Amino acid sequence: MDIRLDGRTALITGGSLGLGRAMALKFAQSGANVAILARRQNLLDEAAGEIRQKAQARVLPLACDVRKPEEITASHAAIERALGPIDILVNNAGTSATAAFEDISDADWQHDLDLKFFAAVRFSRLAYPGMKARRWGRIINVLNIHAKTPQARTAPTSVSRAAGMALTKVMAGEGAPHGVLVNAMLTGFFVTDQWHRHHMREAPGMGFDDFIVEKGKSVPIGRFGTAEEFANMACFLASDAASYITGTAINVDGGRAYAV
Ligand SMILES: NC(=O)c1ccc[n+]([C@@H]2O[C@H](COP(=O)([O-])OP(=O)(O)OC[C@H]3O[C@@H](n4cnc5c(N)ncnc54)[C@H](OP(=O)(O)O)[C@@H]3O)[C@@H](O)[C@H]2O)c1
Repeated sequence: MDIRLDGRTALITGGSLGLGRAMALKFAQSGANVAILARRQNLLDEAAGEIRQKAQARVLPLACDVRKPEEITASHAAIERALGPIDILVNNAGTSATAAFEDISDADWQHDLDLKFFAAVRFSRLAYPGMKARRWGRIINVLNIHAKTPQARTAPTSVSRAAGMALTKVMAGEGAPHGVLVNAMLTGFFVTDQWHRHHMREAPGMGFDDFIVEKGKSVPIGRFGTAEEFANMACFLASDAASYITGTAINVDGGRAYAV
């Protein structure tokens, strides 16, 4: 099976670090040109440098706060000018948060929904019509297993992610007759920058590597996933090899959803 993205243009939000950066690299190595978006330009430039070094691809690193509608509109226009129409959209930007329900303010709820839900709505609304008109498109929404298995202290994320899963299925139904396939990937534990923040909060006295090994024991496979393992599935979903898959929410979690 060939998994290639030759001639495609991909937009990956949160593409400067972690899972987004790994997906951008994998897509570029598979033949796509990629636009990567995040807020910090220096990290975007660093990621773009790595991708250009490892792949023959055009890379557009673009500063954008995906919570801001006007920045989304401007970024979309800049990408189409520089790289052409977007064939593959990966809504990935996000952060983790944990709090008791009664401590979460309206502002916190709005912040989470803007970042994890409305950003996907807004980018999709801009990219989807062109995909439909060209009769080819892929939208991948990166969510979290809590979309299916919400737990205590996971609001507002679990709620934003469940909304993202519903959005995925609605758009898949409308896109399918036009060749636009929409899927969600539900993350478990992957070693990325997010986990340095968890480490500092939960076990600052322990070494980072030991913390990851210890946490990994709660995953049926017995360890955290790597960003490359995540990117492999994203690349498959973005390719022609996944031509009969739409409206799914695939757990990429080492079996963790069945252990919580
Ligand atoms: N790693 C895991 O174990 C795990 C678990 C559950 C869910 N996830 C989800 O998977 C996705 C990727 O996670 P990750 O682990 O790769 O996270 P990460 O290493 O913290 O990277 C997050 C990326 O999103 C960008 N970002 C954050 N806020 C943004 C904003 N307002 N506008 C634009 N870009 C923004 C960051 O860049 P800037 O900060 O410079 O903007 C960065 O590029 C996220 O949605 C996350 O919630 C990950």
